[in-house]
Amino acid sequence: MTAQKELLKKLEGILGRERLITEAEDRWCYAFDAAAAQAKHLPLAVALPRSTEEVVAIMRLATEYRVPVYPRGAGTNLSGGVIPREDGLVVSFTEMNKILELDIENLTATVQPGVVVQDLNNAVAPHGLIYPPDPGSVTTATMGGSVAESSGGLRGLKYGVTKDYVMGLEVVLADGTVFHCGGKTVKNVSGYDLVKLFCGSEGTLGIMTAITVRLIPAPEARRSMLAVFDRMEGAARTITEIIANKVIPATMEIMDNVTIRTVEAYCHAGLPVEAAAVLLLEVDGIPEVVAKEAAIVERVCRENGGQVQVARDDAERENLWTARRAALPACARLRPTTVLEDATVPRSQIPAMLLALEKIAQKYNLTIATYGHAGDGNLHPTITCDERDGEEMQRVHSAVDEIFRTAVELGGTLSGEHGIGIAKQKYMELEFGANGLDVMRRIKQALDPLGLLNPGKLVGPVPAKE
Ligand code: LAC
Ligand code: ZN
Repeated sequence: MTAQKELLKKLEGILGRERLITEAEDRWCYAFDAAAAQAKHLPLAVALPRSTEEVVAIMRLATEYRVPVYPRGAGTNLSGGVIPREDGLVVSFTEMNKILELDIENLTATVQPGVVVQDLNNAVAPHGLIYPPDPGSVTTATMGGSVAESSGGLRGLKYGVTKDYVMGLEVVLADGTVFHCGGKTVKNVSGYDLVKLFCGSEGTLGIMTAITVRLIPAPEARRSMLAVFDRMEGAARTITEIIANKVIPATMEIMDNVTIRTVEAYCHAGLPVEAAAVLLLEVDGIPEVVAKEAAIVERVCRENGGQVQVARDDAERENLWTARRAALPACARLRPTTVLEDATVPRSQIPAMLLALEKIAQKYNLTIATYGHAGDGNLHPTITCDERDGEEMQRVHSAVDEIFRTAVELGGTLSGEHGIGIAKQKYMELEFGANGLDVMRRIKQALDPLGLLNPGKLVGPVPAKE
């Protein structure tokens, strides 16, 4: 028996036939993420564990047979983080989908990695609580993937991203060692902050098998608004002036004209297709504060040439947010390939970044739809193109290089919420310098000396230390 066959036999012994996918047609489903613009490699098999013990057993076998492991949630990530690069085993966490505990006294929840983010929110809602991280893919994305990518979303401006809510973790290392870090205490400064290290580690350092997160009281009231601008500068100035007026909306999203038209054609939400840009805003909190902040937001929008429509009920509010969440799927319909970035700048630089994106689109003769979380400086310039057209892809790559260079020059970062994966590796040194990147590679080598966990991602290829 070949080593590969032997490994599969042993995996079947642990998981049974029904939780080990070996048919090629089915395995192909696990060779993609949601961005789909990366080279694909068919995994050897897909394992669907149900417990920490099974994950430990899988990692011991992976170590014994020196087989790479690609951990995966729902595959909604956008930077290639879950895509297999060589013959290896995909470990999918969709079967580890239990909420292990809701601790209402401590305002925490402990979940298995396969719990869908929206399902956690639905479970805590009857207790008057929310779990704020709100990625665009909230109804599909899993908690494990969300922590591994430290995903953000629409409420990042006021509430932060996933790593701001993770309090404790159970982790399985590459060799099968299990350890716990963090916990339920509000304060915890003991030792290195391993919880933060694993948040956003993109499956390269260990596998999270239990996750404890912080919950917060749901806001009593909220008001959603759509502000329509006939000049992009007006929208850009509004973003910085609202913050300068000391109002931090829960959400302050932007869509440019290309995005507005594309979304409207896709979901007929009644968006103003002639507008240069719209801002979608929501303020929340206690009713008196909401009324006061909404008045300031409306005033600033009007002063900058915006026309404001307030959502009158939940249905109108939902309509707005559904339209915003549709931006990526709508853009993805335009051309065969979608190249989507999440370069992020300090929010005072949002006007400069928006201007730079317009210039880059013109310079390289590309269609760039720009939308995103303007209030936290996290834009999603989305280039629609065709990967079969080599000449066009040259221009796309040059434009992407320029987007990242501009973001870093403006004091920004390569990723506000989508992670580095494969897509942004070549820019890592731009942000961290050779020494910063070397520190990360040393951490990777210390925790995964054989280079088995999601190899080739985030920090790039790191030589194995046999
Ligand atoms: C969004 C995803 C693409 O904000 O991050 O829609
Ligand atoms: Zn986003």
